[in-house]
Amino acid sequence: MKTKLSPSRRPTASKTRNGNGSWISGTRRMLINGKWVLASSGETFSTFNPATAEVICQVAAGDKTDIDAAVKAARAAFEDGPWRRMTPSERGKLIWKLADLLERQLEEFAQLESLDNGKPLAVARVADIPLAVDLFRYMAGWATKVVGHTIPISVPYAPGAKFFAYTQREPIGVVGQIIPWNFPLLMAAWKLGPALATGCTVVLKPAEQTPLTALRLGELIQEAGFPDGVVNIVTGFGETAGAALAAHPGIDKVAFTGSTEVGKLIVRAASNDLKKVSLELGGKSPNIIFDDADLEMAIPGAANAIFFNHGQCCCAGSRLYVHKKHFDKVVDGVAAAAKKIKVGPGHAADTEMGPLVSEEQLNRVMGYLKSGVLDGAETVVGGNRHGDRGYFVKPTVLVNTKPGMKVVDEEIFGPVVCAVPFKDVNEVLSVANNNNYGLAAAVWTRDVSRAHRLASELRAGTVWVNCYNIFDSALPFGGYKQSGWGREMGSEALELYTETKAVCVQL
Ligand code: NAI
Ligand code: MG
Repeated sequence: MKTKLSPSRRPTASKTRNGNGSWISGTRRMLINGKWVLASSGETFSTFNPATAEVICQVAAGDKTDIDAAVKAARAAFEDGPWRRMTPSERGKLIWKLADLLERQLEEFAQLESLDNGKPLAVARVADIPLAVDLFRYMAGWATKVVGHTIPISVPYAPGAKFFAYTQREPIGVVGQIIPWNFPLLMAAWKLGPALATGCTVVLKPAEQTPLTALRLGELIQEAGFPDGVVNIVTGFGETAGAALAAHPGIDKVAFTGSTEVGKLIVRAASNDLKKVSLELGGKSPNIIFDDADLEMAIPGAANAIFFNHGQCCCAGSRLYVHKKHFDKVVDGVAAAAKKIKVGPGHAADTEMGPLVSEEQLNRVMGYLKSGVLDGAETVVGGNRHGDRGYFVKPTVLVNTKPGMKVVDEEIFGPVVCAVPFKDVNEVLSVANNNNYGLAAAVWTRDVSRAHRLASELRAGTVWVNCYNIFDSALPFGGYKQSGWGREMGSEALELYTETKAVCVQL
């Protein structure tokens, strides 16, 4: 469902404290072939401040025609432009420069992200923007290190012949990248960094809820000196611009982060011409606290696991399994932490949790809370909206939940945790793995061998031990099962953007 501007509400430009009011006062254009353009249809859409439900500004609503133009530009930049002739070192330098420019504008980006997404400004300042800067620097370093191997070969049917064989890794080509709204700039960085490091060209489609930081990043991409057409940014809705990109015959690969439902649509769209696909989808991550855990760490850790970014994290620790010995203590502790969280608009200095990103997400999360109660769950704390303006939901702890309930099995993507007691390690391992998702998991214990046993037996792309939500540009991130295909960040990300060529020379 699209959020529409009601006729009674005229677009108003909100001012942010560092004065980017003028940047957000007009209609934001999109970047195609080095030019800032309106949608060919002339259509625009509104982006909203989720703390107030007010319109921030209008943004070009790109569709299939604009996607066509962007793919054409990216293809030309890949085949013929200066980008192709640049050395890996020159590419790395450009990416590093982009990181420097982003760091220079850190405060501006933090303000913009907080305004458009709703997250606390303090969080955007220390997490979203610095992580994006770091990711670009990390990937800048990889540009010169994408290597192949020499391979001794035997060829049994060619006795006596001698060969020299090697592999080389080449950019996959033109890449379509579709990103979500929970970490808008950071998701753009996760996608652009490895694509640029490996020499691909890109058409990026930001989420319609949060297009602003990607567009501002486009200006920095130009300032850094990337050739025209290397990065094209088309704003618009998923069903129009996104679907056109996923199905476009002119791209070689599509990379997607978002809902599992749309991930499946992307795979279907890409199957027409078997373009490569990587997916980072939903999660329902188990967070397991054992009887020997350090509760001083584990209780705030469990609260952070679910409440960070308002639970709008694909790896949110939304299923909390606690050894029965500590169940009441941990539930009380997490509930107390939930009550203490200061909920408010992102820009307020004391805000610890902002609004959900949109009215659609508010309704979705409220729907889950209702279904949980109808199914027999008990609400320990929270369970309803915070205030009646904007899209705020109170941090919520549910107990008395069972597998089979929607709140236990499905991704809620809000500040809602289901706490469940367990008796022994085999029991908890089996319930933890009993889910369609496999993005992340965590274990809190002082027993080293138990920690490693669980790390290997949990079916998840990331396992945290005595910590949660630890991310690093060097650590691969991605999902088992229906949480996705492929890994982002780390050297693994380069594999998503390269083809391996085997070369065999008879000597
Ligand atoms: P979504 O999957 O619809 O949106 C993500 C991106 O996909 C956006 O850029 C959107 O424009 C695009 N998109 C939507 N439909 C498309 C289509 N048919 N073809 C191509 N692109 C398309 O996610 P939505 O509806 O905003 O959120 C719904 C749920 O998805 C959330 O409640 C959450 O459970 C999950 N989600 C997971 C994320 C993650 O990080 N894994 C991020 C965002 C949402
Ligand atoms: Mg959707």
